Amino acid sequence: MSPKLVRKIVVVGVGLIGGSFAKSVKRVGVCEEIIGVEANTNLAQKALKTGAVDRFAVSLEILAPELDERDLVFIAVPTLSVNTVLKDCHRYLSPSVTITDAASVKGSVREAAVEIYGNFPEQLILGHPIAGSEKSGVGAGLDTLFAHHKVILTPELASQSEQSPSFVRVKALWEAVGAQVLTMSVEAHDQVLASTSHLSHALAYSLVDTLANDPDHDDIFNYAAGGFRDFTRIASSSPKMWHDIMCANSEAVVRSLDLFTKNLHLLRDAVERRDSDTIMSLFCRAKESREAFLRSHSSNSSQSSTTTQEQESSMSNKINYVLKPGGFVSGSIRVPGDKSISHRSIMLGSLAEGVTHVTGFLEGEDALATLQAFKDMGVNIEGPTNGEVTIHGVGLHGLKAPKNALDMGNSGTAMRLMAGLLAGQEFDSTLIGDVSLSKRPMGRVAKPLAEMGVKVGTEEGGCPPLRISGSTKPQAIHYDMPMASAQVKSCVLLAGLYADGTTSVTEPAPTRDHTERMLRGFGYDVKTEGNKVTLTGGGKLTAANIEVPADISSSAFFMVAAAITPGSNLTLQHVGINPTRVGVINILREMGANITLLNEREVGGEPVADIQVQYAPLKGIHIPEDQVPLAIDEFPVLFIAAASADGTTILSGAEELRVKESDRIQVMADGLNAIGADATPTPDGMVINGGKPLLGGDIQTHHDHRIAMSFAVASLIATEEIRIHDCATVATSFPGFAELAKQVGISIEVQS
Ligand code: S3P
Repeated sequence: MSPKLVRKIVVVGVGLIGGSFAKSVKRVGVCEEIIGVEANTNLAQKALKTGAVDRFAVSLEILAPELDERDLVFIAVPTLSVNTVLKDCHRYLSPSVTITDAASVKGSVREAAVEIYGNFPEQLILGHPIAGSEKSGVGAGLDTLFAHHKVILTPELASQSEQSPSFVRVKALWEAVGAQVLTMSVEAHDQVLASTSHLSHALAYSLVDTLANDPDHDDIFNYAAGGFRDFTRIASSSPKMWHDIMCANSEAVVRSLDLFTKNLHLLRDAVERRDSDTIMSLFCRAKESREAFLRSHSSNSSQSSTTTQEQESSMSNKINYVLKPGGFVSGSIRVPGDKSISHRSIMLGSLAEGVTHVTGFLEGEDALATLQAFKDMGVNIEGPTNGEVTIHGVGLHGLKAPKNALDMGNSGTAMRLMAGLLAGQEFDSTLIGDVSLSKRPMGRVAKPLAEMGVKVGTEEGGCPPLRISGSTKPQAIHYDMPMASAQVKSCVLLAGLYADGTTSVTEPAPTRDHTERMLRGFGYDVKTEGNKVTLTGGGKLTAANIEVPADISSSAFFMVAAAITPGSNLTLQHVGINPTRVGVINILREMGANITLLNEREVGGEPVADIQVQYAPLKGIHIPEDQVPLAIDEFPVLFIAAASADGTTILSGAEELRVKESDRIQVMADGLNAIGADATPTPDGMVINGGKPLLGGDIQTHHDHRIAMSFAVASLIATEEIRIHDCATVATSFPGFAELAKQVGISIEVQS
């Protein structure tokens, strides 16, 4: 029996959402009794029969005397009816009873609450489950409707946090029914929902109505097929519910409708002119965006409320890798472009004056999220096409306020660097991310930005969304970084571009210096003296061309593949070998790997070489701590090398690995031990007794691209099949990984 989180739950409104909530809570057994409130006794009887509730009352007034601080009222009536229920709550309920709601618009509910109560009441936690179905009414309730869906809570008062019993209870109930709880402001919620949900419902209703009333075609639907059905599925939703939403969120919906109408006119004109370039580029762009959306959703456990059947099947069809054991690698390949440099090329290219051409750009989801963010801020960016991007820079002060929150997907680098440059803008902005990014620490950038006088809001625990206020200009500071992080260093330097005076950062150990190098490449004066980097605000960036080298972090998977399998001889072409990134080469060499750097040269301010790796037996080592920041992204695959080596490998001083896309210490140790290795996680590293035969088995990636690719490499020295679950996030950093792996000799099958 699950522990009881609440004694009685009173559900006001037992339609789809109220009924599903009641059934879900019942399924997981976290309350003693569920009571429905429904004045219409016919509906009440019907709901009683579906088993959603234990008993009924005709009004909240009747129930109020039996409710106290152990109980919760869940308001699940149409948006514009919430105020009537709130009036009853105010009149009859004790302030100790927790109240929450599920209305799709939060601003109107907040307004009603303040009007009724005088002040926003502490006991009311506003919420919105992003889940639903076009079915409505009593009996449509499903006990799994919220599982793996997001629920957004918009706590209004500073006191409504993890310390508030009402907030804790509401959050715990949603989590108990399998939902993922996010928090954001009322404003952010209403704006985001207007674009992603309310607009598409308005369009679906309008399209069906337009066609149904076309005076020239009265039997038009006789000829409609799958496309029409898919596009208009949501027009079967409850008209009353959507009517309420449109009225309650009118301002934001009108903004979205206006934008859409404007763009529709452009398309109309292009069609009239038979302007095939415009039509084709619009359709291609839209297709790409939709596919990126489907991919990012399939890598999240959450689904949106309005998923089509096709989306739903794409989401349930997660990508898994199945690897046959054994083999070796050979040949000569070039892996995609460096992720860190790709992000920075878009950022600095956008802020520069003039046109920047980028080649070798990584067309992975992370860098594409950065590219999209700048498009959302009005920068004209062409491409990427085969790694080529043209950025029409707008200058340091030319960005426009984005209409919506900027979605950084899975990318910590994008979010942290963007935070710095957004701190210098005069507009407010919000940065959001996927499930994995939403759990990562942003306090590390919020803190120095706050020292610079910038107002930055985070969620509890310093997690995203990040809300950056444009009301104050950053002030120059000196920041002594508590951790070795290139992202934090870059964030402060980018904010420093906008400050009056000189901003400097010292780092406890050297970290990648791509920001400093690229700033210099764009003509900005950046000084590096020892561990201190300094720049003075108020300058300008001048467009420059950028050739992005192949990513050493992506190359590392193949370097280790060759280093651990007898018979291997592999060359990785045109790899960036910036001294702040070569920890993987240094560590592998110390373990005994046979690595040769060929054709060393400098390209666009970054050193580059072809890297040849031939098999040689590896031995365990104590990894020097000074190499940790220089190999920070390569440890997952270095752990595979350690498992194959003779003797013990010890890593320490790498606690940062616990806050990457997953807790890479725990997740790698679990995966290694699952396939027969001997790995012991420590708070800041790992001890691996190498040389034990690796068997096979199932690996969970925890949505982490590098975990997936590391275990694909491990298959080379395994004796049985390895199945790696949930590999869709590989597309964030290494699109085409499986094809290249196959090409060099890894026996990988992609199942979706
Ligand atoms: C990066 C810095 C590193 C690294 C990340 C990319 C960058 O993060 O792990 O993949 O591009 O600046 P930290 O700054 O958190 O060490």
